[in-house]
Amino acid sequence: MKKAKGHHRLVTPSEPPNPDIEAGSASSASRRLFLQRMGLGALLAGLFGHVYAWVRSLFPNVLYEEPRRIKIGRPEDFAEGGTFLEERRLFIFRERNTFYAISATCTHLGCTVKMILLPQPKRVRIGEQTKEERYEFHCPCHGSKYYGDGTNYAGPAPRPLAWYKLEVAPEDGQLVVNLDESVGQDFRLTV
Ligand code: FES
Repeated sequence: MKKAKGHHRLVTPSEPPNPDIEAGSASSASRRLFLQRMGLGALLAGLFGHVYAWVRSLFPNVLYEEPRRIKIGRPEDFAEGGTFLEERRLFIFRERNTFYAISATCTHLGCTVKMILLPQPKRVRIGEQTKEERYEFHCPCHGSKYYGDGTNYAGPAPRPLAWYKLEVAPEDGQLVVNLDESVGQDFRLTV
């Protein structure tokens, strides 16, 4: 029997596309695209961070500090005795035409002390002096107590309350507290 000459060609019937394979390749393409975009996003974020740091380095850090010399009003605005300036955390004392300023900041951990009016004046010995007290300062946080001149006498406060210099502003006659200048307990401004 003779074999037919020539090439045999295997003809397979064309198969219909497999939807699973197509969906798989489509999802891997979209995953690739997603990863490319992620990479680009990270690159841009890094670049932006560098540019921001560079631009920021061109400007110095500016600290906005509160002024340390503060006008607090005219002498006649203050009543006789102690006046508490809450936002300044200061007590201003007036004895007729003399004035002085005592800080309300506790020297332990910085709470605001309260002025306590004594029911009757009492004599206390502070150092070498005997003084008559009509008020004291008590700290509500850990119980420190100060005499009327700011000297600490009970609780954990390590030192007296600060006294600050008072001046009169030449331009308008207001009292000025200088928080940069501490003064002794014998300081008095006479106006
Ligand atoms: S902060 Fe005043 S006693 Fe502690």
